[in-house]
Amino acid sequence: MSEILFEVTKDHLDTGLRGYPVGYCMTSKVDPQTGLYYRDIAVKDLAFLPPEEVMYLVYSGKKGQDVAFKTFIKELKERSQLSNAVIRHIHALPRDGHPMKLLSASLLILGMLESTGDYRKDGMNLMAKMPHLVATVINHHAGWGETPLPDVSLSYIDRFVQMLNVPKKDHHLMAEVFKLFHVLHLDHGGGNLSVFVGKAVASGHEDIFGSMSAAMSALEGDLHGKANQDSLNFVKQVLDSLKEDATVQDVENYIQNLLDHKELVYGFGHAVLRVEDPRATIFYDYGKKHFPNHSLIQTALKLREAGPKVLSKNPKISDPYPNVDGISGSVLSAAGFPYPEYFTVLFGMARVIGITTQIIYERCIARSGKGTPIVRPRYIYTSSL
Ligand code: MLT
Repeated sequence: MSEILFEVTKDHLDTGLRGYPVGYCMTSKVDPQTGLYYRDIAVKDLAFLPPEEVMYLVYSGKKGQDVAFKTFIKELKERSQLSNAVIRHIHALPRDGHPMKLLSASLLILGMLESTGDYRKDGMNLMAKMPHLVATVINHHAGWGETPLPDVSLSYIDRFVQMLNVPKKDHHLMAEVFKLFHVLHLDHGGGNLSVFVGKAVASGHEDIFGSMSAAMSALEGDLHGKANQDSLNFVKQVLDSLKEDATVQDVENYIQNLLDHKELVYGFGHAVLRVEDPRATIFYDYGKKHFPNHSLIQTALKLREAGPKVLSKNPKISDPYPNVDGISGSVLSAAGFPYPEYFTVLFGMARVIGITTQIIYERCIARSGKGTPIVRPRYIYTSSL
């Protein structure tokens, strides 16, 4: 008999499939105690490598600079430019609403004009074009003017920064922080909502662009990717309320008061992790080293200390520790990108790598190349609730 992995009881119904094993993931895993690994390598050992090397590791499972890596870099460059038609259609889209909607719509436009229906080929095109697509989306949404064409003499993230028309940008600093952010957000196991949605949509044989558009809509929700925007706003709220000289005890009292009034506290907890998110630890260390006097970093550090003390008193909270969103936005702001509504878009640009690779596995590699079947769970009919 095949090994039993999980037993489903009635108590599991209506719980968001939490923890149900549904398939295999080759790109990464999340350990509750030690956090994220890309292909068996802990993220702390990869955080400061050039992003292309880590993208290649997630995508191919290989580390190092072999011939195939050089071809990967070459393709990312050669395929990096959007067509004029795609740019024109993005510029015709409304600038209202959350920029993630614009990103999802732009992915559909790319699919309408450029899909070949071949997951591998389209996947490579999509990964290569993301910096140009995301820069065009942000510049259009923010009203920052025409997006320059990608300079392919630059690296993946450097050309993204080159195309982003952020006012008063310090290219070097912004690129360094975006590289770190990008590497830390490439993938997060097989079951987070956006990758699950992307794979589910692709299981019906939708192409990679439509599947990714759906995945990005999933990422937009505030329980998923938009949590990084909300968490930075929370750090700002604490700073505005308590001011710069607040003590850790003041922050503890503030959090307790929010909980007493059933209000939300952001930047803590995770579905899988039961320790401080190692991605958060990397950002805290970076923030302390590079921006020790920045008021948002100082406030985020006080929250890091105060939060677990208060939250761990509540037995219903299984993970009282900071997650990556509790600090990433403060570091992005300190590096000259104080635009929280675009944080989820940056998250999406990184996550496209993991989602694309996982879709290619499910469509082209799984079950000896036959691919996984269409996703079709069962819901139990009930006439009375
Ligand atoms: C994350 O990056 O933390 C995730 O995508 C959320 C999750 O793992 O559920």
